[in-house]
Amino acid sequence: MTKPLLEGKTAVITGAAQGIGYSIAEQFVAEGARVVIADVNLEAAQAAAEKLGGSAVAIGSQCDVTSADAVQATLDAAAAAFGPVNVMVNNAGITRDATMRKMTEEMFDQVINVHLKGTWNGTRLAGAVMRENGGGTIVNMSSLSGKIGLAGQTNYSAAKAGIVGLSKAAAKGSRTWACGSTRSSPD
Ligand SMILES: NC(=O)c1ccc[n+]([C@@H]2O[C@H](COP(=O)([O-])OP(=O)(O)OC[C@H]3O[C@@H](n4cnc5c(N)ncnc54)[C@H](O)[C@@H]3O)[C@@H](O)[C@H]2O)c1
Repeated sequence: MTKPLLEGKTAVITGAAQGIGYSIAEQFVAEGARVVIADVNLEAAQAAAEKLGGSAVAIGSQCDVTSADAVQATLDAAAAAFGPVNVMVNNAGITRDATMRKMTEEMFDQVINVHLKGTWNGTRLAGAVMRENGGGTIVNMSSLSGKIGLAGQTNYSAAKAGIVGLSKAAAKGSRTWACGSTRSSPD
């Protein structure tokens, strides 16, 4: 019998109370991980954790990814419940679609904040825990919309394209760090 891929690993998945995030959590639990369902909707996060098998394998944590303090609190809760995070999935997202003519500044800011700043918060704060603990894996959710641009999604396409750049830059920084180069460091 093959060993489950994520046995003994702690995973934090943002926006996992429903949708793609929840499906990722389901698969991670099936592969032996213990997961934190980090979602702005606490009630839904706790219900999802229960559905996944309860506190032995999954807990819900209220987390608005636009807040660095909230993301840090979720990483701390993960460490306390299951051990330091090994896998971070920055998945939380919203859409506020409208044409350029009708999109408000608020709609633009909301989408950029949740996707781009949320992913930046999750990458840098989980990355800091991983640096202390010998490594880990960070998965950032982009979208086809960020690659090709979709009508009505100037905010979302910009955020999702930004996530690609953010992830590439962070990966290069951490590789440089892992090689012990003095040329640059992610700190
Ligand atoms: N559904 C698609 O077709 C599709 C395609 C490409 C990419 N994506 C991306 O995949 C991810 C998940 O999409 P989905 O369709 O499952 O979304 P969804 O709307 O079903 O679920 C999003 C979850 O994120 C949570 N959330 C919203 N704002 C949050 C915040 N500030 N902090 C924490 N949690 C927050 C919501 O409560 C919800 O549980 C998103 O990043 C989305 O952009 C989705």
